[in-house]
Formats: sequence, C-alpha cells, structure tokens
Amino acid sequence: MPAVDTPARPRFANRITELLGVEVPIVQAPMGWIARAQLASAVSNAGAMGIIETSSGELDAVRDEIRKMRDLTDKPFGVNIAQAFVRDPGIVDFVVEQGVQFVTTSAGNPNRYTGQLKAAGLTVFHVVPTMAAAQKAVDAGVDGLVVEGGEGGGFKSPRPVSTMVLLPLVASRLGVPIIAAGGFVDGPTMAAALALGAEGVQLGTRMVSALESPVHDNWKQAILDADEQGTVLLNTHTSPAMRALRTARSESREWDTTSNAMELMADPMALYFGGDMEAALALGGQVVGRIDEIKPVAEIIDECARGCLEVVADLAARYPGA
Ligand SMILES: Cc1cc2nc3c(=O)[nH]c(=O)nc-3n(C[C@H](O)[C@H](O)[C@H](O)COP(=O)(O)O)c2cc1C
Repeated sequence: MPAVDTPARPRFANRITELLGVEVPIVQAPMGWIARAQLASAVSNAGAMGIIETSSGELDAVRDEIRKMRDLTDKPFGVNIAQAFVRDPGIVDFVVEQGVQFVTTSAGNPNRYTGQLKAAGLTVFHVVPTMAAAQKAVDAGVDGLVVEGGEGGGFKSPRPVSTMVLLPLVASRLGVPIIAAGGFVDGPTMAAALALGAEGVQLGTRMVSALESPVHDNWKQAILDADEQGTVLLNTHTSPAMRALRTARSESREWDTTSNAMELMADPMALYFGGDMEAALALGGQVVGRIDEIKPVAEIIDECARGCLEVVADLAARYPGA
C-alpha cells in the first residue's frame, strides 16, 4: 500500500517519535497471527509504528511477514517478543537478524533479553501491568515502557490496575518514555494519555477491528456489537489471566476458579479466520464499547492524531489561566 499523503498531518515531536522514528506516536499492538504484514504495513505507512508478532510461535511465517513488510513499506516497524509464548532460546538472534530497530518484550522477565537486545543496538520497551514491574524493567535497562492497564485486551495481570491509576503512577515515579496501552481508541483518549504522562499510545482492540486487520468479519462485528461490559477477565486465580470478548464460551468461565480457561483456546484458527466465535477466545479490551465502525488504519491513526491535538488546543483555550 502506498504511503498515505496527508500534508497537513499534525506533528508530534517527543521522545517516542524520536526513538521510534515515527511521525505519530501510535503503536499498533502485537497480536498473535493478527499483527502481520497486512495490518502492520498499513500502520507504518500511516506514519505510526507497525509491529510484527512472534506470539504465534510460527517463526518461519514471521520471517516471511517481515520480508513482506520490506516490500510494503519503507517506514520503520518493530517486532514483539511475547516471552511466555516464544521460549525459543534463539529468539533474540532471530529478531536481531531481521534488521528491525525497535522491539517490545512482554509477558516475562525484562532481565532475560534486554541486555542482549540492547547490545545488538535495538531500542527496547518492556510491557508492564504494575508499578513493581515497571521499576524492574527500568532496572533491567530498557529504553522505555509500555504501561498497560487492566482494561486492555489480551493477557493481563491477574490483579488488574486500570490505565487511569497505573499510568500516572508509573509516570510520576520513573523518567523513561512511556507508551500507554489499555483503552486507547481516539483523540480524546490519546490526549488523556499525554496528560497522564505518556508520550505515545498503543492500540490493540481498535486495530483488531480495523479494515486491514486479517481477522474474520464475525470477530469485527462482535466488537462493534459489544458494549463496555462486553469482555470477561478470565483466569484471575491462575495463569495467564486474560481479557476476552464476552461469548457463551468465555462467559461460562467468568467466575470459575477451579479450571484453567486457556483450554478454551481450543481452535484459534477457526475463530480468527473461520469466524466461529465459540471455537476459541477472542481476546479484546473494554474499549470494544467505544468501537462502532470498521475503519481503515490510516483513518484511525489520523483521527487519533488530529483529535488528540484538537483536545489539547481546546483545553488550552478553555482554561487559558493555566
Ligand atoms: C487479540 C489480541 C492479542 C494480543 N496479543 C498480544 C501479544 O502477542 N503480545 C503482547 O505483548 N500483547 C498482546 N496483546 C495486548 C496488546 O498488545 C495491547 O497492549 C492491548 O490490546 C491494549 O489494550 P486495548 O485492547 O484496550 O487497546 C493482545 C491483545 C489482543 C486484543
């Protein structure tokens, strides 16, 4: 897809745009099978940061997707290492060999890969769901943090803390650049992230619903149909806790503290690409309640960026005493 020509694109100059080499400090979330070239190239071409996943564990397919990225965009993109899902000891060498500059690590100990990745010259951000995890990542030497609140989709802390509490807490105590995740979807939420101390946002559920997202239309429709209570937090008694769309399958384990809901991930391909919403868990965040239209990635990025700056300008005009 060619680069989107929006000459009047707002400019955000901060540590995230500088470190990531992007025009707009928005990161598309890594998501198994979903965060591949079709979606990530659209994000990079829109001036934001496309990310390729490795959580599917399909490293040969991932290598092909990265090759496709080089054909589809000349803009920067990154890779995620979801540590709990990719236990391949060669994962760091694999990522370094792909020639990307930006990597996020998640679902694991930041001491494990940060040193190796930094020594290879990569910019490393670690995903954290608590203050203690944020401190540990900074001590491990990361360049920045993805601070993710419990309203977000996907694998979560079993004791979730909302973005509204976690983000300003971490920002007030640590000086590293922060990308906020969990609940971000539009201009006002992006402006809120900046107000709370982040310099960028990561969009997960919003990107699942995007036109270029490869998932079956049934999943996208389920996001449009869901309200703000339309997700279930599963497995808070064990690991991994995860937030998924409310379906008959996920709801059946909502209050279950005896079994492991991971077994509900029976046939992800039948759900992801076959559209059978009861074949597995459709991971998603509470922000489903705020998504009511499938939009192209370029439009989502542009609306977030412009809308954010409009909110900031509007607040400055309404409260000039500041
Ligand atoms: C379908 C889906 C799959 C995800 N897979 C991953 C993953 O592989 N690695 C990761 O770090 N985060 C993963 N996440 C979490 C996202 O990266 C992101 O931080 C989260 O979705 C942000 O919250 P939001 O859904 O409110 O935007 C996933 C989220 C979703 C919805």
